[in-house]
Amino acid sequence: MALDIQSIRADFPILERVLPNGKKLVYFDNAATSQKPKIVIDAMTKFYEQYNSNAHRANHTLAEEATAALEHSRLSISRYFGTSPANLIYTSGATEAINLAAYGWARYNLERDDVVVVTEMEHHADIVPWQEMSKEKGIELRYVPIDTKTFTLDMDAFEVALEGAKLVCVVHTSNVLGVRNPVEDIIEKSHAVGARVLIDSAQGAPHERIFFDNLGADFVAISAHKMAGPTGIGCLLVKSEAMEQMGPFMTGGSMIRRVTTEGSVFQEGHAMFETGTPRIAEAIGWGAAVEWLSQFEMREVHAHIQDIASWTANQMLEIPGIRVFGDPSLPGSSGAVSFLHDSIQSQDLAFLLDEGGFAVRTGHHCAQPLMDALGVPSTNRASFWIYNTLDEAQAFVSHLRYVCERFA
Ligand code: ALA
Repeated sequence: MALDIQSIRADFPILERVLPNGKKLVYFDNAATSQKPKIVIDAMTKFYEQYNSNAHRANHTLAEEATAALEHSRLSISRYFGTSPANLIYTSGATEAINLAAYGWARYNLERDDVVVVTEMEHHADIVPWQEMSKEKGIELRYVPIDTKTFTLDMDAFEVALEGAKLVCVVHTSNVLGVRNPVEDIIEKSHAVGARVLIDSAQGAPHERIFFDNLGADFVAISAHKMAGPTGIGCLLVKSEAMEQMGPFMTGGSMIRRVTTEGSVFQEGHAMFETGTPRIAEAIGWGAAVEWLSQFEMREVHAHIQDIASWTANQMLEIPGIRVFGDPSLPGSSGAVSFLHDSIQSQDLAFLLDEGGFAVRTGHHCAQPLMDALGVPSTNRASFWIYNTLDEAQAFVSHLRYVCERFA
């Protein structure tokens, strides 16, 4: 069944927003964070208005309701990702999920000179923890370059970098280029040399359904807020045998079984990594988000986004002075379109677009090694999601054309 975009839009109150300058909002900053459907906002409001309580700690009615809702969400979210609740560790987002893999797995399992492979197109969240692990453990960090003509990963260089690797950390879909890496191939090749694989799917999960148990990756990092959920929550999906090799990352309440003045015994499984009061409202909100998303066929959602993104990128290339980084028509591309004008600074261009009501992101996108490889300090980025329309893209391109003619 074709997507009914107007009825999808009606689920998002913010899309009716009129900006202080009287322009109607056109939200093209979805790779930074998606908007939230009313059902998610209502689920979180209901928690705070009707059964706000800590979970897993008391036996009064509110505590029982909060605990039940929290566990229901864990079930919905793990089901959505094609795995069991035991393989899901809640985190604050993808960044904390990758830090958990670094400090909860790599710290306990890697030794001096062990090789960790990352790529030049990683978000800083999938670079800096490994740099820190390199300082702490003496691991060797290898970077796989990108081909700057096609904006794709250099897979020949990847195979060379793989030699002797113990861990491979690859972004599913680049937040700057929109390009989807061949993660299935990467997982297979990495496992063939005995390396574990971490996929940073912060940008992948909002665009395609991940079935963790089938995918075969050892770790997948996910953020809720880019897929209709709230900020402040995400997860690390972990294969059981990798979880058995993990040790504590953060310590304190909830993750312990028994504490004495002599020392502590920790919980087992995901409970060892979920320290302190759970993110109850956020988990309930994310649970509502995956239930909302489940009504759609993600292949259709993705095709819709890719149509808008490809049309937009092609039109932009016709505007004198605009360069586009990436190709949204590539299979699986998330449709993030990064662009730069050769004489209008990206920051200035963002203000001029905002004057027209268009929200895009500007900057290095937490991907400075990729900016270095592209030879630019920053880009503007338009990124689309399920509720965007071709009409919005047409209005955007015509405003961009006007701005470039007027200010270049
Ligand atoms: N990492 C997010 C982005 O690309 C915030 O905008």
